[in-house]
Amino acid sequence: MSRQRIAVIAGDGIGLEVMPAAIECLDDLGALHGLSLDWNHLEWGSDYYRAHGRMMPVDGLDVLAKHDAIFLGAVGVPDIPDVETLWGLLIPIRRSFEQYINLRPVKTLPGVRSILRDERPIDLVIVRENNEGEYSEIGGRMYRGLAQESAIQESVFTRHGVARAVRFAAELASRRRGQLTSATKSNGIVHTMPFWDEIVRETVAGYPDVTLRSELIDALSANLVLHPWNYDVIVASNLFGDILSDLAGAVTGSIGSAPSANLNPEGKHPSMFEPVHGSAPDIAGHGVANPVGQIWSGAMMLEALGHPQAAAHLVAAFEAALGAGVCTRDLGGTHSTADVTSAVRQNIERRADDFVGVAKS
Ligand code: NAI
Ligand code: MG
Repeated sequence: MSRQRIAVIAGDGIGLEVMPAAIECLDDLGALHGLSLDWNHLEWGSDYYRAHGRMMPVDGLDVLAKHDAIFLGAVGVPDIPDVETLWGLLIPIRRSFEQYINLRPVKTLPGVRSILRDERPIDLVIVRENNEGEYSEIGGRMYRGLAQESAIQESVFTRHGVARAVRFAAELASRRRGQLTSATKSNGIVHTMPFWDEIVRETVAGYPDVTLRSELIDALSANLVLHPWNYDVIVASNLFGDILSDLAGAVTGSIGSAPSANLNPEGKHPSMFEPVHGSAPDIAGHGVANPVGQIWSGAMMLEALGHPQAAAHLVAAFEAALGAGVCTRDLGGTHSTADVTSAVRQNIERRADDFVGVAKS
């Protein structure tokens, strides 16, 4: 088995707590499945920013490019503007490495009570366009400090960018239940969103086994709370996808459990795996952060690196821990990050025969 080099950026706040938890689990799996995961810990983030005035070194992207994957915790601290942390690290990585898909699975987890009264299982995936759309650098501020001060921010939607995200989503839907929902707002946003709708329709026409439904983002948000089990794959622009995935994560339990993958589907550049949540300064340092979002992101990384059996093993292990009631405060439990991590590790060991045997057969 060849060595796989993984760049680790734990970042700030609870990123520093959930990252070691996930790496312990991944190391256990590595030993059982004969994987060679080589962690390269990069101390980039807000402390680096305070010392050097930037979130990563000048050649940071060249350093990352030499890895097979990037495993990220969370970045952001109250005393540094979020625009610096986001645009100084996350967005350059997503853009330079053409990680144009942000994949966010949302699933009911065993032992985790949803906030909904009706507890039918939820199993959907949000495919968020990750490179363009509303997150653009185009625009500006003028008349600063004057009464007529104004700001303009342009959205950028390209045929190439929308079509490749929709293709990915349609392919995913055809491997799942064949239901694709497109998040739109073409009644109010009159240029970009009708363009989005057009490309979605044209692209999905090439997938006869996929049923397409376009829903206005406001109604979709309400429906996602009222009937989340009706959704299979949702494709959305950068901003809509960001909002929907926090919402969907919260509906199933807590954003602390939600994972994400920033994918360069062609594998030309490394992909990046990170929990949906941020650095949670309100609970950082207390040892109570839910490590499941980071651990599950690790499972997505294993899958993308070509180890689906180890990925399934890890998912089964954290599901067993949660199913046995070992969970953190955000999920209604009383356990610490360390308790949840050791329960997951015990279940990795316990389930080894089911997964390692299959891998070798
Ligand atoms: P957040 O996700 O950090 O926290 C929102 C709420 O959820 C807080 O009450 C927090 O305690 C709770 N929470 C989040 N993750 C949890 C976990 N694993 N276990 C238990 N509870 C958890 O979002 P917020 O407060 O808006 O942002 C805090 C900082 O994180 C900001 O600087 C923001 O820019 C940054 N951020 C970074 C992201 C990234 O690195 N990709 C993503 C989102 C936010
Ligand atoms: Mg978000």
